[in-house]
Amino acid sequence: MQTFGAEFDPNATLRVFRTARVLDPLRLKRRAAYITAIGALPTDYTIIRSYNRTRSVNQYLTHWFYPYKGKYHPQMVRALLNVMRIEPGDTVLDPFIGSGTTAVEAQLLGIHCIGVDISPLCTLISRVKTESVAIIDRVLQYQAEYERIARASAKSNPPPPISMEASADDRIKNFFKVAELIAHSDHARRGRPFIQSFVRNIKRMSASVWDVRTASDVLELPLGPVDIRQGDARQLHFADESVDAILTSPPYAATLDYIENDAHAFRALGYDLRRVREQVIGVRGHPQHRLSYYYDDIRQCYAEMYRVLRPGRWCVIVIGNGMVGRQPLDLIGLTIRECGAIGFEFVREIEKPMWGRRNELNRESIVMFIKPT
Ligand SMILES: C[S@@+](CC[C@H](N)C(=O)[O-])C[C@H]1O[C@@H](n2cnc3c(N)ncnc32)[C@H](O)[C@@H]1O
Repeated sequence: MQTFGAEFDPNATLRVFRTARVLDPLRLKRRAAYITAIGALPTDYTIIRSYNRTRSVNQYLTHWFYPYKGKYHPQMVRALLNVMRIEPGDTVLDPFIGSGTTAVEAQLLGIHCIGVDISPLCTLISRVKTESVAIIDRVLQYQAEYERIARASAKSNPPPPISMEASADDRIKNFFKVAELIAHSDHARRGRPFIQSFVRNIKRMSASVWDVRTASDVLELPLGPVDIRQGDARQLHFADESVDAILTSPPYAATLDYIENDAHAFRALGYDLRRVREQVIGVRGHPQHRLSYYYDDIRQCYAEMYRVLRPGRWCVIVIGNGMVGRQPLDLIGLTIRECGAIGFEFVREIEKPMWGRRNELNRESIVMFIKPT
């Protein structure tokens, strides 16, 4: 609210804000996160999140594609992009793009997003969430054929090949690949019949992609360009001072084993789990050495983030104090200390309310820095 220049009084329930002054109500309507309406006028955010094919308020549009554990909340990303004052045409980098939350939200705001992740599963999911809107008409042609096959065969796992011409756009192939990975997950975790789940996912995914198109038409959103790259955050292939903002959430040491958690998906994609693990921060190396590797790795990542960010711009890191066994790690303190030592100016820490996950985390925060001019 303050970013938009609004002076306000929250009432006792924190549900209604009376603004004394709003500098640009249209901008507030278009960009605000969390806020439902300005007077009788619904915000764009309210309309965007109404396009939701799931029961979770955080999984609107394509956010639900693949049950990736460790996502952050899209509303928070939208709010932070506002606080950082990132405008259409600016570039935001997320060097740990994960399942693409930053990319989806930046795209909706017309902001250029570069997302990097070491995991080929993550780059695939992030691409499909943001690229499918461009090819959805062609997806529908193949969808009909998959449905016909599904009616004929009930058990096939993986799905039988369909006559997709060899030259078919990678974005189309990736769409069906993710539908397949969600079906693997449904099958592995919930015992659902594979082919039915696969076909159901295709239908629901294409409906969500249509929703992106409809929302962008209805709200006249100029969707921002998205560039997802597989790469290592310890060594970013970008020029010095080339991005306008960084918004990211790195691994919380070994709190979540990203490889083990999605082992079925890596296998389905044909990857050797041991090879993938070698580069994954937090879980790489012998368990005895993991923590010291983590500290070295995360320092390198923060130094790279400092190098590629333009002076005078924001770097916002969402991080939690993970655990090693039953011992909490002060990863928030580490982040503040290390980023300060590299040259970032610490601005503030906002503690996030914690809902559950108490056995994995004792605290989670948004830590905000500026690179000095
Ligand atoms: C906390 S998750 C990010 C989740 C993301 N914010 C989302 O909403 O989906 C951290 C990510 O760091 C990635 N990662 C681990 N090691 C990496 C490395 N060396 N370079 C880049 N990414 C890495 C993991 O694959 C994981 O996706």
